Amino acid sequence: MQGRSWVITGASSGIGRAVAERAGQLGGNVVLAARRPDALAEVARRIEASGGQALVVAGDLTAADAPEALARAAVARFGAIHVWFNNAGVLPVGRFEEIPVEDNLRAVTVNLGGAVGGSHAALMRFRAQGHGVLLNMASVEARVPLAYHAAYAATTAGVLGLDMALRQEIRLAGLRDVRLVTIMPFTVDTPLWQHAANRAGRQPRGFPYDDPRAVADAIVWAALHAPSGEFPVGMKAQVASVLGQVAPGPSTWAAGRLMDRVQMRGAPAAPVGPGNLHAPIPGPTAIEGGMRGR
Ligand SMILES: NC(=O)c1ccc[n+]([C@@H]2O[C@H](COP(=O)([O-])OP(=O)(O)OC[C@H]3O[C@@H](n4cnc5c(N)ncnc54)[C@H](OP(=O)(O)O)[C@@H]3O)[C@@H](O)[C@H]2O)c1
Repeated sequence: MQGRSWVITGASSGIGRAVAERAGQLGGNVVLAARRPDALAEVARRIEASGGQALVVAGDLTAADAPEALARAAVARFGAIHVWFNNAGVLPVGRFEEIPVEDNLRAVTVNLGGAVGGSHAALMRFRAQGHGVLLNMASVEARVPLAYHAAYAATTAGVLGLDMALRQEIRLAGLRDVRLVTIMPFTVDTPLWQHAANRAGRQPRGFPYDDPRAVADAIVWAALHAPSGEFPVGMKAQVASVLGQVAPGPSTWAAGRLMDRVQMRGAPAAPVGPGNLHAPIPGPTAIEGGMRGR
């Protein structure tokens, strides 16, 4: 880890922030990307206080040339990129017909488009330098999609398909020291649930939440040790991923029933709106979302 360079998108809160801080504590050089510059500056301060080095590159990753600019900034500052983590993501929640189409399309642009652009920028560098680890954030929803998350679930399945094809290209190109790991967490207690577009009229919620710091440690482990492939994070994600493949009918039926109880039976809750989809909101910048305490 000492002296290794990381590029992490979505590093201003939640899982991305936790991975960035852990990489910094282990002596890594971390390039921090997201839209909220103040939040990124705070993460950079914590990394530098713990012995790592940090570079803030604030901006919207969907802007033209954003992934390339990020890669150029990383190489200019740290010389090489060892790990690139496409982690930024947004979540619209609600009945599909009640979510404005522009919210769902925005999730496609940020989540899947971000992985496409970031993977391109990273693999260009990895091919040139002959090594590198690409981590693409998906979700166990790629295997067991959830009701009221339709477009989000589709973006995670899109990332999984992207990665399956890219792994073939990496192998065909003979890039033996390039790995691509698809990260598939279960539900994690991060600010995602406050950031989500609430089109359900109820607080966006998941069910049994994992600790984001434990998830981040698993992702750092995956960057160092996991072979190319899918990486369901933790036992719940592993079981759900297997069930989604061997018994897709029953597992998605059960997931739908559970989501209906968790998401749609609670008390109505404001604010209804687009959350952080189209522009950052001054909301939480912490690693934890505080959902487990509720
Ligand atoms: N929490 C879960 O249960 C869970 C489960 C499985 C997978 N995931 C995935 O994990 C990833 C991280 O989510 P999280 O749970 O840590 O939630 P989070 O705290 O809301 O993190 C999302 C990050 O993405 C950034 N972001 C959003 N739109 C962006 C844009 N257009 N350009 C640049 N950055 C953008 C946000 O920062 P700014 O607002 O500052 O830009 C934030 O840093 C997401 O891809 C999510 O889908 C989460």
